Amino acid sequence: MVCSKRSWLVALVLVSLCCLARSTDVSHDGRAIKINGERRIIISGAIHYPRSTPEMWPDLLRKAKEGGLDAIETYIFWNGHEPRRREYYFEGNYDVIRFFKEIQNAGLYAIVRFGPYVCAEWDYGGVPAWLRKIPGMEFRTNNQQWKDEMANFTTLIADMLKQERLFAPQGGPIILAQIENEYGNIMGPFGDAGKEYIQWCANFAESLNVGLPWIMCQQSDAPQPMINTCNGYYCDNFTPNNPNSPKIWTENWLGWFKAWGKPDPHRPAEDLAFAVARFFQANGTLQNYYMYHGGTNFARTPGGPYITTSYDYDAPLDEYGNIRQPKWGHLKELHAALKLMEKALTYGDVNNTDFGNGVAATKFSYNETLSGCFLSNANQSSDATLEYQGAKYFLPAWSVSILPDCKQEVYNTAKVTTQTSIMVKKPNKAVDEASDLKWSWRPEILGSSVSGLGGNFTENKLSDQITTAFDESDYLWYMTSVDISHQQQMTLRVNTTGHVLHAFVNGQLVGSQYGPNGNWVFVLEQTANFKAGKNHISLLSVTVGLKNYGARYELDPAGIVGGPVQLIGGNITIDLSTNEWSYKIGLDGEKTKVYLDNPDRKWYSGMIPTQRPFTWYKTTFETPLGLDPVVVDLVGMGKGAAWVNGNNIGRFWPNYTASADGCNGCDYRGAYKAEKCQTGCGEPSQRWYHVPRSFLKPGEPNALVLFEEAGGDPVQVNFQTVTVGTACSSADQGKTLNLSCQGGLTISNIDFASFGDPKGTCGGYERGGCESDEVYSLISEECVGKESCSIQIGENLLGKCNGSNTSSKSLVVQATC
Ligand SMILES: *[C@@H]1O[C@H](CO)[C@@H](O)[C@H](O)[C@H]1NC(C)=O
Ligand SMILES: *[C@@H]1O[C@H](CO)[C@@H](O)[C@H](O)[C@H]1NC(C)=O
Ligand SMILES: *[C@@H]1O[C@H](CO)[C@@H](O)[C@H](O)[C@H]1NC(C)=O
Ligand SMILES: *[C@@H]1O[C@H](CO)[C@@H](O)[C@H](O)[C@H]1NC(C)=O
Ligand SMILES: *[C@@H]1O[C@H](CO)[C@@H](O)[C@H](O)[C@H]1NC(C)=O
Ligand SMILES: *[C@@H]1O[C@H](CO)[C@@H](O)[C@H](O)[C@H]1NC(C)=O
Ligand SMILES: *[C@@H]1O[C@H](CO)[C@@H](O)[C@H](O)[C@H]1NC(C)=O
Ligand SMILES: *[C@@H]1O[C@H](CO)[C@@H](O)[C@H](O)[C@H]1NC(C)=O
Ligand SMILES: *[C@@H]1O[C@H](CO)[C@@H](O)[C@H](O)[C@H]1NC(C)=O
Ligand SMILES: *[C@@H]1O[C@H](CO)[C@@H](O)[C@H](O)[C@H]1NC(C)=O
Ligand SMILES: *[C@@H]1O[C@H](CO)[C@@H](O)[C@H](O)[C@H]1NC(C)=O
Ligand SMILES: *[C@@H]1O[C@H](CO)[C@@H](O)[C@H](O)[C@H]1NC(C)=O
Repeated sequence: MVCSKRSWLVALVLVSLCCLARSTDVSHDGRAIKINGERRIIISGAIHYPRSTPEMWPDLLRKAKEGGLDAIETYIFWNGHEPRRREYYFEGNYDVIRFFKEIQNAGLYAIVRFGPYVCAEWDYGGVPAWLRKIPGMEFRTNNQQWKDEMANFTTLIADMLKQERLFAPQGGPIILAQIENEYGNIMGPFGDAGKEYIQWCANFAESLNVGLPWIMCQQSDAPQPMINTCNGYYCDNFTPNNPNSPKIWTENWLGWFKAWGKPDPHRPAEDLAFAVARFFQANGTLQNYYMYHGGTNFARTPGGPYITTSYDYDAPLDEYGNIRQPKWGHLKELHAALKLMEKALTYGDVNNTDFGNGVAATKFSYNETLSGCFLSNANQSSDATLEYQGAKYFLPAWSVSILPDCKQEVYNTAKVTTQTSIMVKKPNKAVDEASDLKWSWRPEILGSSVSGLGGNFTENKLSDQITTAFDESDYLWYMTSVDISHQQQMTLRVNTTGHVLHAFVNGQLVGSQYGPNGNWVFVLEQTANFKAGKNHISLLSVTVGLKNYGARYELDPAGIVGGPVQLIGGNITIDLSTNEWSYKIGLDGEKTKVYLDNPDRKWYSGMIPTQRPFTWYKTTFETPLGLDPVVVDLVGMGKGAAWVNGNNIGRFWPNYTASADGCNGCDYRGAYKAEKCQTGCGEPSQRWYHVPRSFLKPGEPNALVLFEEAGGDPVQVNFQTVTVGTACSSADQGKTLNLSCQGGLTISNIDFASFGDPKGTCGGYERGGCESDEVYSLISEECVGKESCSIQIGENLLGKCNGSNTSSKSLVVQATC
């Protein structure tokens, strides 16, 4: 196309005409949020933009829209955007404006939670560590320094969003805004200052003039006109503090985060759907899944302490952006069922009937012909059959049925008809599977640090790591020297608040330790040889994300705070706590950016050292074929950080094994808690690390650089793609049975087709029940070789299993992709 100036002008005019979005009026009453005057049901889901890449956003948002969401919610991540005072960063996965524009492009609304304290299992709760440099600073209370900085940053973001016309009254997607975050949970210790602060927050939010309703979550005393909202696993019993506030659930915890040393939490789709249906049955009108896509804690401002690099959260879109089934599909059907009765739910009269034993019916009547019903059985052990308005309904224990016309059940939270997908990791087919990755290595240059040289400053005490390194690096050297009268073996004892400590005496690593089981305070005790005269002691303290929660959490220290650091030999104890300590921030390799794979840098090949702490490893690899997400399996490595083509993919710690207990099967019935349905006990708490495809260069060799601080062996490291391995589906007579693979893979085999209650679960169904050769060959014919298939389960297919008849009217199929 030839583009003259004139055609550009014409195009510009056309673009402005077509795309000058119309202003949307957002208001509310006690029943619902109103969009252009109409009460609406709003299904929202959280996606935190820094936890994925801009290249992933359109796909994630399309899958969210297709999953029946109306809105996307995100926090704003202060320490990512303002890493140093008044120095801002809005590139890459911090391009928040682009994120909101993508939301709008996807046809979704947005909810912005400014915070700017966000909690979010995020490093320091999202607050920049440099705030601690400001004299008199106290976080999250009626403190002028805090309020000034909070207002400065929040105003900047609000102005940017206004500038880009992203608020609904300007034609943008943002319909709701939040100030502060879960302050009510921790305000007690602040007394009156806390009350004054939350009033200030309300006034400040109003002063931003964004033309939208404001929310405060977990804030039962939220000042008007702030809407107080609920966070939790269930929020049906929540009542806002004002009759003019609609019932809003800001965080529906549809899973839980994962921590180093802990197993993988899962929340069953049946229980989650139950919680959502109960909320709408109890007059709720807006709910937000926390998280709809959890994603990955990449570098810059990664997860808080305990938190793994994966922030999968057991969300409907998995860490890599794959659709997690049956969760995604079961919720999609629920959203569709709720939307069928939107009018009745938002405008109807409510009539609740209690039938005892946990069984209840709720009818929302708009007029004589338009009504919607929920039939619920909150009993966690007994199924029920309810006779309601002349018809009988089977209600499994811990379930809700939705009858959008109060007659026909279109959905029951415990009856999952969506495909179950078992995800598998496949080897990187771009390379010959037999050929191993070729490694080279170089040491981390420790020389000056272990000799006490090159410090940034000295002090005659042991100071907190946060107010010394200000989160510029995970690594802080504490270096000192001591005169010993004669050569002897002595014990070095270091009391530290964690999170990891490496101790060097006269250049030799004498010990490494971390606080296990989430208890980061520990004592390192190690014997070492000391020579007569001057001895160097260098202690490398390593943080794994800073604490993010609690009243005055910013005062919880990290590193060797006060110690004591002692030397014990024979009968004497030398206390080094008030020695002259020299401090040095960061590693040499961080300063020289070894991970950028600068060609000038010397890498050694040949013998690759293993179990060698403080070693950099490098390899190159081909981009895996296909479209499926890519992971790197870091099995065999200890602890450190990884980069692909210079992009940090997070901290790794496969050596940190999840506790052996706590994986006790799963019954979706009964109140959920994070410990309930775990898997992965006794396995590395995180073995696979996401490599976003946008970090890769197709057709060229890609560089993987690993920094190993504890000692590991890269020989088993390999790249894989994540896709659907096994798909299981069931359907009743008259319904359609669907099966699908992903990423261009096709169904290679039908493993199993059975009527009735088959033995086992998806991935491990056992033959020997009521199978049908006829149905088996029909499904094989229809599905094998295809990416997805649909089969209508008619009369002809049912009732016949291998020679005998069955009364079952439903079919279960398992396929391999
Ligand atoms: C934020 O602080 C800077 C000075 O550090 C000032 O120039 C700027 O005007 C402030 N912004 C707001 C919105 O107060
Ligand atoms: C729902 O609203 C109706 C009518 O306002 C009220 O009677 C009922 O108690 C409410 N139910 C719940 C669970 O809040
Ligand atoms: C509420 O529903 C019950 C059960 O269907 C019915 O008996 C009752 O009359 C209804 N009440 C109102 C006010 O409609
Ligand atoms: C559940 O049902 C059983 C038997 O139907 C009853 O004994 C029990 O009290 C019920 N539990 C609740 C919480 O209603
Ligand atoms: C009930 O409301 C619906 C939706 O506004 C309308 O189509 C229908 O005619 C109404 N029925 C009666 C009996 O008023
Ligand atoms: C600390 O010292 C090193 C080495 O002199 C220097 O590169 C680095 O910039 C210093 N860092 C700070 C935060 O002063
Ligand atoms: C070790 O450090 C912790 C945390 O700073 C402190 O509470 C404790 O008193 C210290 N232990 C000793 C023996 O000083
Ligand atoms: C330790 O003290 C005891 C008793 O005071 C003494 O006999 C011994 O020689 C001392 N040992 C050292 C290594 O100083
Ligand atoms: C962790 O490292 C230690 C020491 O190298 C090793 O013995 C252990 O097997 C490793 N554990 C895992 C899970 O990799
Ligand atoms: C099965 O697939 C068909 C066609 O894609 C679709 O219309 C139908 O809703 C699907 N059924 C289920 C239960 O997902
Ligand atoms: C049906 O039964 C025959 C004989 O018992 C057996 O050989 C065949 O494998 C069965 N088919 C299926 C699908 O189970
Ligand atoms: C199964 O039932 C059908 C219809 O009721 C009947 O025609 C057929 O003979 C039965 N087959 C067996 C093996 O019992």
